[in-house]
Amino acid sequence: MKSLTIKGNKSDSKLLVGESIQNLRLYLPENRVVVITDSNVNRLYGRNFNQYPVIEIGTGEKIKTLGTVAAIYEEMLAMEVDRSWFVLGIGGGVVCDIAGFAASTFMRGLKFGFVSTTLLSQVDASVGGKNGVNLDSFKNIIGTFNQPQFVICDPELLKTLPQREILSGLGEVVKHALIADQELFSYLEVKVPDALDLKGEVLEYLVYTSAVIKSGTVNSDETEKGERRKLNFGHTVGHAIEKCTSIYTHGEAVAIGMVAAAALSKQQGRISDPELVRIVNLLKNLGLPVTTDISRDELIRAMRHDKKREASYIDLVLLNAIGKCEVVRTPIEESADLVNALLIIPQ
Ligand SMILES: NC(=O)c1ccc[n+]([C@@H]2O[C@H](COP(=O)([O-])OP(=O)(O)OC[C@H]3O[C@@H](n4cnc5c(N)ncnc54)[C@H](O)[C@@H]3O)[C@@H](O)[C@H]2O)c1
Repeated sequence: MKSLTIKGNKSDSKLLVGESIQNLRLYLPENRVVVITDSNVNRLYGRNFNQYPVIEIGTGEKIKTLGTVAAIYEEMLAMEVDRSWFVLGIGGGVVCDIAGFAASTFMRGLKFGFVSTTLLSQVDASVGGKNGVNLDSFKNIIGTFNQPQFVICDPELLKTLPQREILSGLGEVVKHALIADQELFSYLEVKVPDALDLKGEVLEYLVYTSAVIKSGTVNSDETEKGERRKLNFGHTVGHAIEKCTSIYTHGEAVAIGMVAAAALSKQQGRISDPELVRIVNLLKNLGLPVTTDISRDELIRAMRHDKKREASYIDLVLLNAIGKCEVVRTPIEESADLVNALLIIPQ
């Protein structure tokens, strides 16, 4: 097992990569623990935490609402949960976002921790202390910055995950490699089959290295003013794609967005043609999409309504090499270049 301490403004968070869900109680108070989980995770793994009272929520992005949070508050009131209790979120990014937000706001804040059960949540969602829910079509618009006490990342739990969910997480690992770690990128290039086979030591390396990159970025910028924007690499077009259609998972949409950003980086002379080819090939070898049929106009329209847009500029994250990126403030009218760049990618 590898552990990593993530420094937060209010408290530190311990990330335990390779720890087993079976050792959960080592990290919890004796009693006064309430679990928040979703119906899939409860069905598959409930036997590991059935000594605690459980609040079960549904599944999917559609339940990431204030309505679900209100239902959790009501159940906690009925259980007479008070500020001495500990909230444990067990699930993927949806559960962690909701549980972290509910814990941070109920009675002005309870201590909380996570068992992260999806690859996306292990490499991304549960690292960094952002917790929140959606409001109408605005994703993650209501939320808090607050670190969990601990996050357990047990690679065994990933064995029951559908393949597309694994790919979604691997997409975020590629993102971390591209923005900050050329070695991680080279490692991925040779370990594609092992990563897809969920080899324990490979997953542990990918989860740990991703967490180091994400937490390093977050540590230097806990409230998302500067450095942290680099983590949005691939997300400008990725979010636009998610607005246009629901056929892609988040990771798939971001994969296409990363290709767009890499292609624009190549057009601007920031990376070379062979570097672009390596990026496209890695994503293809993993089984992630690198292009889309959504029309150029539709994508551009959706992109210009991105919440990260400030005034008449958009912050694009572009590559200066594999493993190096830069946030480039770009006039909104030039943002179409990002979508147009998708047209030049090698097939
Ligand atoms: N807070 C952040 O910094 C941050 C960062 C990235 C993403 N997110 C959020 O994360 C969410 C996506 O997370 P996700 O991809 O984990 O989705 P998810 O939580 O919806 O999980 C995906 C599916 O897998 C199921 N599942 C979970 N664990 C399982 C397991 N071990 N075996 C079998 N099935 C399992 C879930 O029930 C669900 O149906 C989005 O809402 C996104 O906004 C948050």
